[in-house]
Amino acid sequence: MSTVRTYDDPAALADAAAHYFVKTAQAAIEERGRFAVALAGGSTPKAMLVRLAQPDLIKQLDWLVTHIFWGDERAVPPDHMDSNYRMAREALLDHTPLPAANINRIHGELEPATAATNYEDILRTYFALSPAQKADAQPRFDLVFLGMGDDGHTASLFPGAEAIQEQQQWVSAYHVDKLASWRMTLTPVVLNAAARVVFLVTGEGKANRLRQVLYGPYQPHILPAQIISPKDGRLLWFIDEAAAGSL
Ligand code: 6PG
Repeated sequence: MSTVRTYDDPAALADAAAHYFVKTAQAAIEERGRFAVALAGGSTPKAMLVRLAQPDLIKQLDWLVTHIFWGDERAVPPDHMDSNYRMAREALLDHTPLPAANINRIHGELEPATAATNYEDILRTYFALSPAQKADAQPRFDLVFLGMGDDGHTASLFPGAEAIQEQQQWVSAYHVDKLASWRMTLTPVVLNAAARVVFLVTGEGKANRLRQVLYGPYQPHILPAQIISPKDGRLLWFIDEAAAGSL
C-alpha cells in the first residue's frame, strides 16, 4: 500500500519532504535514541537536502545521533562532480554539526565490488548484525529517500538489472551499460526492509512513467521502481502537479 502526496511545485515538494525528514528523525530519536536515513542522488532529492539545510530546520534535529547513509553511489571518488556523497555534503552535511563518524558513504573510489562489500560491512556494523544473521536479518533504515528516473529506475536499479531480483546481497555493484559506468546500489533486500521509503518525483517528463509505475502492470524488470514495497513499513510518493499530470 502506498500513499501519494501531490504538491504544487518542486519547491513545495522539497519543503514537505524536508519537514518529513525532520519529523521522522525526531520520532526515531525519541523512540530509539538515534536515526538512520539513506539519501538519494539526483536533482529532486538534492532540492530536499537544500531545503533541509536552512536554519529553521537544521536547528530542529539532533545531528549527534543522526546517521547518514546512501541508497546508491557512482564509482567515482568522493570529490568527483558525479558523487552522490559530494552532492549531499555540499547541499546539507557541510551546513550541519554532524560528526564525521555519522557519515557512512559508499566508497566510490574503490573497485566497485570492493566498495559493495565494504558498504555491507558498514551496514552490518551500524545495525549490529553478524555475518551469521545476514541470512535472515536486514538493516532497517528509519527512512530511505529515493528518486525515480524517467525510465522508471530508482537508486541504481536500472531496467534489466539482475540486482532488481536480488534476494541475499544487501549491496550490488554492476556496470550500467546505458550509462557506460559502474554503480553501487542498495538492493531491494535492504530498501524493502526500511520503516519508511519516500519517493521524490517531479516534472512533466516523468508523468507517463509514473502512471505506469503506480497503476500499470507489475513488471519491475522494466520498471524497477515497482520493486519497492516495504515488507513492514510505509511507502510514500511525494510528487508535484507536473508529475501527477497523467494520473
Ligand atoms: C542517482 C540516483 C537516481 C536518481 C534518479 C532521479 O544516483 O542518480 O540515485 O536514482 O534519484 O535518477 O534523479 P532526478 O531527481 O534528478 O530526476
